[in-house]
Amino acid sequence: MYTTRIFSGVKPTGHLTLGNYLGAIRRWVDVDQHRSDALFCVVDLHALTVDHDPGRVRRLSRQAATLLLAAGLEPELCTLFVQSHVDEHARLSYLLECVATDGEMRRMIQYREKAGRERERGGGVRLSLLTYPALMAADILAYRADEVPVGEDQRQHVELSRDLAVRFNQRYGQTFTVPRATQPTVAARVMDLQDPKSKMGKSHDSGSGIVYLLDEPEVIEKKFLRGVTDSGFDVSYDQEARPGVSNLLEILASCEGTTPQELSGEFSSYAALKRRTADAVVQLLKPVQERHRELAADPGHVDAVLRKGAERARERAKPTVDAAYRAIGLLPPM
Ligand code: AMP
Ligand code: TRP
Repeated sequence: MYTTRIFSGVKPTGHLTLGNYLGAIRRWVDVDQHRSDALFCVVDLHALTVDHDPGRVRRLSRQAATLLLAAGLEPELCTLFVQSHVDEHARLSYLLECVATDGEMRRMIQYREKAGRERERGGGVRLSLLTYPALMAADILAYRADEVPVGEDQRQHVELSRDLAVRFNQRYGQTFTVPRATQPTVAARVMDLQDPKSKMGKSHDSGSGIVYLLDEPEVIEKKFLRGVTDSGFDVSYDQEARPGVSNLLEILASCEGTTPQELSGEFSSYAALKRRTADAVVQLLKPVQERHRELAADPGHVDAVLRKGAERARERAKPTVDAAYRAIGLLPPM
């Protein structure tokens, strides 16, 4: 039996990207599932916080689960499931909304950015976009997770989950484990190849700076070769002054298991750096793509994994969520 519990998730709002893979998924596969009781979740309820197409969310959820298996999550080692299959997430989220304040929700960077974008488009902002961190905290706290392996952009949400756990425990008695975020040392924030000051995000409008895990090798090459670099010729690592080059060095370092600083001396031109990074990414993704093709041909297998995963997840979450209901003052069912 492991003493560490790990939880993490990915939203089915678009096709999975190289940012998801290097920032999060690869560690789940290589490290986390081997050293802990680990749960990985396709967080479909979170995909409903912005304008969405029901059929697309359904397809992307299945595709994300298939890709996570293709990337190497093993159902014998970890629990893979879909969030909406386990009621405890939504049950606990409401209690955490009763512990959080609207001020702390409004301070979340992701809320401010996304709400701003929705308003610019002239649409309304879904209330669930504001309350999203309470649901995310519920995902984590329901399992008493110790660690939450995420990319840099999710740090603030995990911090809020910590605050809510501490506050709940202080007010209503020891119920939750206080979780902490873990991040990779390189590539915790992979940037868009066309706009290296913005995060490579799967739901951005233009796809030309985003490398998707299922992109064909020629497409991956083209995206790297056409990527924006910086003025000057110097291949040095400096995220402020040279965001384009630094992003490529981060990606390459992550693929090769080294550091961007070590690599920076090896290149005399941007073109050489782009070419080697493209090759490294193509090689890294090749086995994932091959395995994805096999698994996509056998959806029954993926369904069976998700069914079993939901059962295991439910068993783990229910006692904690029941305890939280009692602690906060709700009368147990007669
Ligand atoms: P999401 O796509 O927002 O559901 O993110 C799933 C996981 O991938 C989270 O742990 C994110 O922090 C991580 N992630 C997403 N985009 C990036 C990126 N560009 N660089 C590094 N990690 C990322
Ligand atoms: N909010 C995360 C993201 O956008 C996804 C997520 C939802 C998550 N619940 C989680 C990640 C719980 C870690 C733990 O990437």
